[in-house]
Amino acid sequence: MTYIERTTLDTESLKEKILQLKKERNAVILAHNYQIEEVQDIADFTGDSLELARKAANQSADVIVFCGVDFMAETAAILSPEKTVLLPAPDANCPMAEMITAGELRVLKERFPDAAVVCYVNTTAEVKAESDICCTSSNAVKVVESLDADQIIFVPDKNLGSYVARFTDKKVLPWEGFCFVHDRITPEDVNTARQLHPDAQVLVHPECRAEVVDMADHVFSTSGMIEHVCKSSNKEFIIGTEVGILHRMKKDCPDKLCYPLSSQAICTNMKRTDLQKVYNSLKSLTPRVTVPEDVADRARLAIQRMLDI
Ligand code: 13P
Ligand code: SF4
Repeated sequence: MTYIERTTLDTESLKEKILQLKKERNAVILAHNYQIEEVQDIADFTGDSLELARKAANQSADVIVFCGVDFMAETAAILSPEKTVLLPAPDANCPMAEMITAGELRVLKERFPDAAVVCYVNTTAEVKAESDICCTSSNAVKVVESLDADQIIFVPDKNLGSYVARFTDKKVLPWEGFCFVHDRITPEDVNTARQLHPDAQVLVHPECRAEVVDMADHVFSTSGMIEHVCKSSNKEFIIGTEVGILHRMKKDCPDKLCYPLSSQAICTNMKRTDLQKVYNSLKSLTPRVTVPEDVADRARLAIQRMLDI
């Protein structure tokens, strides 16, 4: 009994300290929908990759604490180079973003000189710098359709690339990358979940494999799913993405019932941030994420083109 009380008190006092430091530093805390519950609850804003990029671009705060993974903090640093951008867990990387290098992309561009390059924001700053435009899971089709080119080099996610290809007459050439969290969701997972919850709608993320997308009722980005769950007249939903999103669904739409499509859909990298690290980061103003100016200037063009759509 004593132990439970002390743990609660520690978490609470940590939260208080974070809020106090946040004021002193004129900082804002941005968190992705996959973050652990305590981090989502302390954040000023929780959202999907596009929403977070827009927030990072329009901040009056001096310090941005990015509770997500490295490419998200890099994007914030590119958009707001004058601000201090902190990534509380320096080892919070995205394995998919590391599946293509700028050198590999340059080789692709030489092979397909007439193609435009669309890169998912889940890429390094160097890869963005080699790309014509960025996209996220919520705007990928719109971005591809906005381009004049008939051929599109799409990096790094083969699943998002093949999803986009369903909605365009352009020839999409996807790179072989994938998200280990979404790619391991199987059609059997969908069958099992549907048997358990026959009245539930199946919502999946476009990072899922094509055969899983084929079985879904709807395909959305993370915030797209939350919006759909809140607005839909349906009561039950099977959620095909990282399980952290269920916390926001419970908070934003408490009258709905949401079940994970796979309880194995956990991004360990997204879970590396916790309250202690957020506090340490605000206190020491480290680990700071910066992007070399020449790379940032080129990457910013690709990100800004996306934000302008
Ligand atoms: P969104 O939140 O933009 O849908 O992205 C999902 C994801 O995997 C981020 O790493
Ligand atoms: Fe990267 Fe997938 Fe984790 Fe998102 S969920 S950070 S795409 S590994």
